[in-house]
Amino acid sequence: MNEPRSAVRKKLFIKTYGCQMNVYDSDRMADMLAHHGYERTEDPAAADLVLLNTCHIREKAAEKVYSELGRLRRLREERRRRGGEMLLAVAGCVAQAEGGLMTERAPFVDIVVGPQAYHRLPELLARRARGRGGVIDTSFPQESKFDELPRPDRPSAVSAFLTVQEGCDKFCTFCVVPYTRGAETSRPVAEVLAEARDLVARGAREITLLGQNVNAYHGEGPDGREWGLGRLIRSLAEIPGLSRIRYTTSYPSDMDPDLIAAHGEVPQLMPFLHLPVQSGSDRVLRAMNRRHSIDDYRRIVGALREARPDIALSSDFIVGFPGEREEDFAATLALVEEIGFAQAFSFKYSPRPGTPGAAMPGQVRDAVKAERLARLQALLTEQMRRFNEAQRDRQLPVLFERPGRHAGQLVGRTPYMQSVHVEAPELRIGDLALVHVTGVHAHSLAGRLVTRSN
Ligand code: 5AD
Ligand code: SF4
Repeated sequence: MNEPRSAVRKKLFIKTYGCQMNVYDSDRMADMLAHHGYERTEDPAAADLVLLNTCHIREKAAEKVYSELGRLRRLREERRRRGGEMLLAVAGCVAQAEGGLMTERAPFVDIVVGPQAYHRLPELLARRARGRGGVIDTSFPQESKFDELPRPDRPSAVSAFLTVQEGCDKFCTFCVVPYTRGAETSRPVAEVLAEARDLVARGAREITLLGQNVNAYHGEGPDGREWGLGRLIRSLAEIPGLSRIRYTTSYPSDMDPDLIAAHGEVPQLMPFLHLPVQSGSDRVLRAMNRRHSIDDYRRIVGALREARPDIALSSDFIVGFPGEREEDFAATLALVEEIGFAQAFSFKYSPRPGTPGAAMPGQVRDAVKAERLARLQALLTEQMRRFNEAQRDRQLPVLFERPGRHAGQLVGRTPYMQSVHVEAPELRIGDLALVHVTGVHAHSLAGRLVTRSN
C-alpha cells in the first residue's frame, strides 16, 4: 500500500553518477520520496533535500562526489542565510564503500545510504530530524528493497529501465562492484513481469533489463525452478505493447545457448549487445580474473552472429592493467580490428583500494596508459563512424522517444541505439516507424519517414 501523500510539498534534487542501474535507483528513490511530500526539482539551490546517487567504479568518480559535496555545502550555507534548510544525502556505491569514512571526510553530510538500503530513506530522514550528526545505513538488509518500494504512478518514459539482477560474484581483480553491490541476486520472474506490465501500462514501449551481470540472471520462475535470462526475455516478449527488449551489462561466459538462441527467435530483442571483453590479451585476462579467453569471446560472438546476423556489438576496455605490455595492448587493437564494434567505452586502469589489482606488481605509468587509451579510442571512434556510415540509405525501424529541437521534429532510436532526427509532425512520442537514413553525423543520424509501422 502506498502511504498518503503529505500536504507540504518539499523539493528534491537528485544528481546521478555512473551506470544505468543508478538511473533506475534514482527514479525509484524519487517515486518513494514523492509519497513523503518531495517533488523533484532541477535546481539544487531550491532543494530541501539533495541526493547524490554515486558511482565508485573509477577513482575520479569518487573524487567528483567529494568536490560536489563541497559545492553543495556552500549552497546550503547561502540557503541558511536566507532562513532555509537543505539536507544532504549520499546514496549509491561511494556511500556503500565509504560508509562512516564519508561522514569523517565530509561531516556536514546528513545521510549516507547504500544501494541495498535506500528503501529506508524515509526512516533515515526521520532519524536525522530527531538527532544530531549524520545517519548511516550501508547494510544489506534481509528484506528486499523491491518489496518495500511503492509502485510509481507517473507516466513511464518510452524507453524504461528495469533492474532484474544485482551484485556480482565474478571478482574481476580491477573491480569494486562485488564489494559495493554485494553477492549476485536475481528478482523472481513474477515480480519482473509485473513491473514490466506496469511500465507498459504507463507508456513504456522499450524495456532495458539491468544488472551488473544481467545475463547471470537466475530468478525463481512461476514453476518454482530457476529461469535464465533467455527464458525471462521470451516471457516478456508476450506482453502486448512491448516492442523492444534490451539487456545490459553481460558477462561473456554467461551467454548461455538459450540466451543466444533468443537473439534469433525473439523479434523484440534488439540486435545490439554490450558484451565487455576488457582486453585482447589472454595473459591480461587471466590477471584480471576474467573467466573467458579471447577464443571463448570469438566463439560467443560467432554464435551470436549466427543466431542474429545483423547483431551489432559494444564493449568495455581497460588499458594499462598491471603487467600489460606493449604486445598485450597490440593484441587488444588486433581484437578490435577482428571483431568490429559499433560502440565502445574505454578506460585507463584505475587502481581501486581493496581490489587485488591495486596491489599487483607492474603498475603501468599514467603517460603510457594515456598514450594507449588515445590509440585505442582512435580506432574505436573510427569503427563507430564506419558503423554509422553503413546505415546511410538503409531503412530502419525507429522508436520515437522525445521531441527534437524544431517544431514537428522527433528524436528516436534505431535498433542499434543511434539517435535519429526526423521531421514527423504526424507522429507522436512512443510511435515506432520505418525511417530512411539520409544523413550521418558524429553522434546522430538524420532520416526521412517512410511508413508508420504501428
Ligand atoms: N579501472 C578502470 N576501468 C574500470 N572498470 C571497472 N573497474 C575499473 C577500474 N578499476 C570499467 C570496466 C567495466 C566498466 C563498467 O568500467 O571496463 O566493464
Ligand atoms: Fe566488476 Fe567483473 Fe563483476 Fe563486471 S563481472 S561487475 S567487471 S567484477
